[in-house]
Amino acid sequence: MLTNDQLAAWDRDNFFHPSTHMAQHARGESPNRIVTGGEGVYIVDRDERKSLDAFAGLYCVNVGYGRPEIAEAIAEQARKLAYYHAYVGHGSEPAIELARMIIERAPAHMSRVYFGLSGSDANETNIKLVWYYNNILGRPEKKKIISRWRGYHGSGIMTGSLTGLDLFHKAFDLPRPPILHTEAPYYFHREDGAQSEEDFSQHCADRLEELILSEGPGTVAAFIGEPILGTGGIVPPPAGYWEKIQAVLAKYDVLLIADEVVTGFGRLGSMFGSEHYGMRPDIITIAKGLTSAYAPLSGSIVSEKLWTVLEQGSEQLGALGHGWTYSAHPLCAAAGVANLKLIDRLGLVENARETGAYLQRRLHQAFDDHPLVGDVRGEGLLAALEFVQDKTERTLFDPALKFGPQVAAAAAERGLIARAMPQGDILGFAPPLCITPEEVDDVVNIAEAAVASIAAKVL
Ligand SMILES: Cc1ncc(COP(=O)(O)O)c(C=O)c1O
Repeated sequence: MLTNDQLAAWDRDNFFHPSTHMAQHARGESPNRIVTGGEGVYIVDRDERKSLDAFAGLYCVNVGYGRPEIAEAIAEQARKLAYYHAYVGHGSEPAIELARMIIERAPAHMSRVYFGLSGSDANETNIKLVWYYNNILGRPEKKKIISRWRGYHGSGIMTGSLTGLDLFHKAFDLPRPPILHTEAPYYFHREDGAQSEEDFSQHCADRLEELILSEGPGTVAAFIGEPILGTGGIVPPPAGYWEKIQAVLAKYDVLLIADEVVTGFGRLGSMFGSEHYGMRPDIITIAKGLTSAYAPLSGSIVSEKLWTVLEQGSEQLGALGHGWTYSAHPLCAAAGVANLKLIDRLGLVENARETGAYLQRRLHQAFDDHPLVGDVRGEGLLAALEFVQDKTERTLFDPALKFGPQVAAAAAERGLIARAMPQGDILGFAPPLCITPEEVDDVVNIAEAAVASIAAKVL
C-alpha cells in the first residue's frame, strides 16, 4: 500500500494543479490536503481529519457528498452504455431525459439546452452562439460582449476575458477583444457613501449605456452577468439593478446571458437566480449544480427567440460547426438526472431558502457589530463577510496582510472550510444545499472563533 507521504511527494513532483501557487506547492508550503471521502456536508482527508465543507467544493456539491443514488445511476449507465456521441442528431436516453428535465425547470421562455462539460466551455459556446445569431440576422458588426469587472465566467481565452478579475488576466495577455467590461454592481464599494442602492443601480445602468453608446450600439451583441456576483466577492445586486440594466439592453437590442453556473438549481432558494431577480435572459449558463459535480457537465439553455433564428439559420448554413466529443456524455447526463431527482425529493431548493435565511440571520447576528467586518451579505445559501480595517470609513486592508486568507486558514484549522475569495479580504460561504440549521450553527460559531483569532493580531 502507498503511504500518504509518498502520495504527497508524487503530488508535488507530477501534478500540475489548477489555481495554485506553483512554487509554494512544490516547496510543500500549500495546504496540500488530499481528500479521500465525504458524507453530507463533511469531507475527510488522508490524515482522517473531518471538516465541514461550507463551500461545497467549489460551490458545486449541492446535494452533499456520498449520495449513493447518483453513484449508482452513473454505474448503471456505465454498464449499459458508457459513451455514445451526440453529433448528427444522435442521443442517449439520459441526455434526452435530462434536457427535458432542465427545460421543465427553466423559465418558460427557454427552449433548448446544449450540453458541454464545464462552465467555461458553456460560456465559450454562448459567445459563439451570439456571433452565429447575429451573422444569421445579417448583422456581422454586432459582436462585442460586455461583462462586468469582478464577474467570473471561466478561464478559457474568451471566458477568461469575460472574467473581470486581475488574477485571471495577469500575464495571460487577457482580456482580449471583443470583450469589454463595465462597472461591477458592488454597492459596498460605492464611492459616495450616502448614495442609495437604487441610485447606485442607476449609476451602473448609466455607465453601461455610456459604454454601449461610445462603442456604437450596432457593434454590441450581448451582456453577460451572474445574477449575484460569485467569485468576484459574493455580492447580491443592489435594489433595482437588473430592472435598470435590462431596460438599457432592450433599448439597444443587446442580448442577456445569465451565468447561472453557481445560482442554477437552487442555491438562492429559487430554481434559478434569473427568477429570483426578475431577469429575462436569452441564454442561461448552467454547470456545477446540474450534477452536483458528481460528473462534469454544463449547459447553455437558449430562449425560444434565439432558437428560432438558429434553427432557421441552419437552412442556409448547414450543420452547426460546433461540438465536443463529450457533449451530452451519457455518464454525466445520468448523474444529472439522478441529481435533479434528488434535489426534488429532498426539497433542497426549499431548504436553501429556509436554512439559507437562517444562515444569513446568524451571520448578521454574529458579525454586524464586529469592528473589522464591514459587510455581511448574501442570499439563500450563498454568503460572505468582507473585512475592513476601518468600518466607518470602509477602508480596506492592505492586501499584503492577507487578512481574509488568514481567517480562512484559521477556520480550516478548526475544521471549517470557508473560501478566501480571490480578490479582496472576503470570506465566502456556499455550503451544500442539504445543510441543517444545527450545521449552520457550527459554521457560524467556528467562523466567529476564526475571525476573533486573526482580529486579535491587528486590534
Ligand atoms: C459563474 C461562473 N461561471 C463560470 C464558471 C466556470 O466554470 P468551470 O470552472 O466549470 O469552467 C464558474 C466557476 O466557478 C462560475 O462561478
